[in-house]
Amino acid sequence: MGARSLLAVLNGERQAVPPVWFMRQAGRYLPEYRALRAEKGGFLELVYDNDAAAEITLQPIRRFGFDGAILFSDILIVPHAMGQTLTFTPGEGPQLAPPLVEARLEDLHAAPQHLAAVYGTVRKVAAALPGETAFLGFAGAPWTVATYMVAGEGSRDQAAARLMAYREPARFAALIDAVAGVTVDYLAGQVAAGVHAVQLFDSWAGSLAPDEFDRWVIAPTRAIVERLKARCPGVPVIGFPKGAGGNLARYARETRVDAVGLDETVDPAWADEALPEGLPVQGNLDPLLLLAGGDALAGAVRRIRRALGRRPHVFNLGHGIDKETPIAHVEAALAAIRSPL
Ligand code: CP3
Repeated sequence: MGARSLLAVLNGERQAVPPVWFMRQAGRYLPEYRALRAEKGGFLELVYDNDAAAEITLQPIRRFGFDGAILFSDILIVPHAMGQTLTFTPGEGPQLAPPLVEARLEDLHAAPQHLAAVYGTVRKVAAALPGETAFLGFAGAPWTVATYMVAGEGSRDQAAARLMAYREPARFAALIDAVAGVTVDYLAGQVAAGVHAVQLFDSWAGSLAPDEFDRWVIAPTRAIVERLKARCPGVPVIGFPKGAGGNLARYARETRVDAVGLDETVDPAWADEALPEGLPVQGNLDPLLLLAGGDALAGAVRRIRRALGRRPHVFNLGHGIDKETPIAHVEAALAAIRSPL
């Protein structure tokens, strides 16, 4: 018996009761997170404090016994390490400066110590984690990270990055390649420090036309998977191309990720038909159902389990948990996910 059921499923084993973790399970819906954040003063202060970040990674494991712990950090640590400044102003979202619409990548001064700082957290968590809990590292996928680097902030339609990709494809390709290179080093560093598997978050995969999706989502993801497999054999990679819709099947076949994350807009029964047989799938409860609770929540959990029950399935949300989520609804969801069907 594998001690970590989540890893067994990522390696292709079907289980009657799916292992479960939730994206953003460490964060603002937890009073113990809010207390530590108030004490330390801000989000980035938490990320770069190994003791605080390890503690926050473990908080949801202690409270709920999730089958996976996700490193507490952020996808924007990579641009920080590539030389942009990073600030999180409450209520405004993250900001990177200078934005690459105004500055050249070559003029930034790389700051790799920001990546090394995260490995200290990984080592602390790895030493403290229960034997049955899998430890997940992560990074943003190059397309999603580049959208923030180009605009200097989040945006509704990622127009600045999409325009740069059309107008200056060679310059944009160089940016994607640079992010991919740092990302491989960063993920390999997380593995060396103790994570068991990694997830690539491509949160803005849904904003690209099909040819652009191939070029800026599939190709760099495949390159990262190939290079990571060479350096860290046997470490599963979960790809999460949010909003990919009809591009999902191609993404699953061509990137060679070990598992695919589905967002809440994907019909799990369609995904079961469209995705390669036996490919592990992760998802895909609407995070808003955790606010609604009750029969709507329990019914949706059952439908997702039935639709994906014939293949290896990791239960998760379709996107990050909402900060207004009641603790009792997380407990109810876990009871439904872990009960016999
Ligand atoms: O999943 C986890 O629990 C692990 C930690 C984690 C965070 N961010 C912590 C965080 C992970 C995996 C991320 C990924 C991330 N960060 C993504 C990809 C996934 C997604 O949500 O689409 C993106 C796009 C970011 C960038 C980012 N970080 C934004 C846009 C924001 C501000 C908006 C928001 O939700 O607050 C953040 C801040 C952030 N990252 C918080 C946390 C817990 C909130 C910080 C706080 O106010 O305390």
